[in-house]
Amino acid sequence: MTDIYSEEPFIVAYYDGAAEASRIEAWQARLQNHLPDLKLVPLMSEAAKQAMAAMVWNPPIGQIKQMPNLKGVVSLGQGVDHIFKDESLPSHLPVVRIVDHDMSVALGHWVCLSVLEKCRNASDYRALAKRREFRPLPQQDARALKLGVYGVGAIGNEVVRQLRALGFDVTGYARGPHPDLDYPVKYGEAGLSEMLQEMDIHICIMPLTEETTGFFDKAKFSKMKVGAYFINAGRGKHVIEDDLLTAINSGHISGASLDVFEVEPLPDDHKFWDHPHITIWPHVAAQTNPQTASQQIAKALVSFHKGTEPANIVDKKKGY
Ligand code: GLV
Repeated sequence: MTDIYSEEPFIVAYYDGAAEASRIEAWQARLQNHLPDLKLVPLMSEAAKQAMAAMVWNPPIGQIKQMPNLKGVVSLGQGVDHIFKDESLPSHLPVVRIVDHDMSVALGHWVCLSVLEKCRNASDYRALAKRREFRPLPQQDARALKLGVYGVGAIGNEVVRQLRALGFDVTGYARGPHPDLDYPVKYGEAGLSEMLQEMDIHICIMPLTEETTGFFDKAKFSKMKVGAYFINAGRGKHVIEDDLLTAINSGHISGASLDVFEVEPLPDDHKFWDHPHITIWPHVAAQTNPQTASQQIAKALVSFHKGTEPANIVDKKKGY
């Protein structure tokens, strides 16, 4: 891969919300292992006008359109909704997402942690410990619980694998049937209805598309079992937050563990912050890792340069 760009520096524009110099340096060092002539520049700089590719997380609307030499865009995350929300994004540009097994593993760990915290009454025990109360609470049989994972792509499969390894009874939910998978997957209207009614813990890992925006709303929460628990490692916009709050406050839903929110960072005055039954994480279930993701990004950059089709190209119609 190394001899293609020796005549001129290979400029790639970078943005991850802040584009701090230290992060640009870390990514550049990793990518240069594969592409020694690569130079990473901040997206909002004069130098970015020469960039042949952009590596971005949540770029400012309208910015990509202003880059005349661009041949493709790499999402710095596994999701791409943060790129496609820009309606001025030129339609000819290929967009590639990261498919990094290490990130899926990390996300699986976060889901397992959230499930175990709920099953083993972690927040109640922390509250007892604060009061120096050393006493047991009833222990539920976690293996009797039914866990539903919404989204059975590369990430969902890893989440299911880990939960099953812990002995949990897991069912997936997808748009269509999945005879290829070695665990039960419900689909379609009827399947969704069964999921909502039967599962004790609902875990959202779906990509955010038009179809899945606002998916978890009042109607869906009210179909869930009384006492069901909700975990979101997908996107904040999958959930109507007021409906979730109402469902938890009424006692119908027992609580939620959330890594993603409609507005991030979660605003200071948001009602979720102080809620005793809501656990908040700052969108860290699976952080993008330059060490594990740089090779596939380098390959995508080479494909953009050569005009060949890169791996993990996003189907714009499907939105993932
Ligand atoms: C994180 O949310 C990602 O899309 O990878």
